[in-house]
Amino acid sequence: MTHDIQNLKTEISNEIEAASDLKTLDDMRITVLGKKGRITALMKTLGQMDAGERKTKGQALNTLKNEITDLIKHQETALKKQALDARLANETIDVTLSPRHQEKGHIHPISQTIEELTAIFADMGFCVAEGPDIEDDFYNFTALNFPPGHPAREMQDTFFLPDDEKAQGEHIKKLLRTQTSSIQIRHMQSNKPPHKIICFGRTYRSDYDMTHTPMFHQMEGLMIDKATHMGHLKGCLMDFVRAFFDIDELPMQFRPSFFPFVEPGAEMDIGCTRKGGGLKIEANKDGSVDGWLEILGCGMVHPNVLKNCGLDPEEYQGFAFGMGIERMAMLKYGIPDLRTFYESDVRWLDHYGFDPLDRPNNATGVKS
Ligand code: PHE
Repeated sequence: MTHDIQNLKTEISNEIEAASDLKTLDDMRITVLGKKGRITALMKTLGQMDAGERKTKGQALNTLKNEITDLIKHQETALKKQALDARLANETIDVTLSPRHQEKGHIHPISQTIEELTAIFADMGFCVAEGPDIEDDFYNFTALNFPPGHPAREMQDTFFLPDDEKAQGEHIKKLLRTQTSSIQIRHMQSNKPPHKIICFGRTYRSDYDMTHTPMFHQMEGLMIDKATHMGHLKGCLMDFVRAFFDIDELPMQFRPSFFPFVEPGAEMDIGCTRKGGGLKIEANKDGSVDGWLEILGCGMVHPNVLKNCGLDPEEYQGFAFGMGIERMAMLKYGIPDLRTFYESDVRWLDHYGFDPLDRPNNATGVKS
């Protein structure tokens, strides 16, 4: 038996040494030391032996078992090291290779401008309100003091949706909103005064040329309280324009204008010079300007609009203003054609877009 054990040891040791991968080695461990393994089978024969024989053979088998276990462990470590060395040899990094080109996305000028506008008005205490793109005729026109048949509706020719017959059989005309002013109405109807909101969103008109697209973005502002007056309107918008263009001495003017939902109504212009060919948003040295650029509409909210929203115009009053976001972006960042905003041309976005990790903000100065 001792002789047999010696032979078995040599045989198994040779097999272990010959195992060239971890899987073969593990399979071998099972055939030798597993429940039905060769050494285990020999251990089971001990029960039939007499005490003296069992002692010597038992000891010899135990030693064999321990030796084989050690040999397997040893071989396992060697195989693992071999595998690691092979990986290290294969997977070296060639630091001399030129780097792979990586595309970097850019923030669209509309998104950038919306963030700048939000930051400026949030500093003044305005909150952001939202409303749907598909509006009822009531919110887009009637409640804003454009009664049916009002000629001012023509200025905002839009896209109507097929009639929607309500449960009571009443026809409500659905349309794509022409202005974010509809959000003013929704907000005033469902919230208590005072109101101090700004709203952003897509608006739609059936127009298409260098300065008009069927879809564009607007920003609207509304402030209603008991003693809000035209001075607040002017102060708020003057501060805003200076912060947005980052020019302290920016010349500006308010010019009377008509919008059905405000009275009095005005448009705000900023001064520009024609130095060096193009338009530049600044004054000449002596404070004069060579021309004016219209940037937004504004006015004191019309008493009819307040009444339509359940407010008593004898108690509450306030102002509203609205502007095209593309127009603000075009003026600030020198983008000449509105249509290019929506052509999804990556070269355009690389040029006019903003690096997400390094873009202008109100803290560092908006001129980057
Ligand atoms: N909604 C107006 C427009 O689209 C802009 C505006 C808003 C004017 C609020 C005055 C007050 O032309």
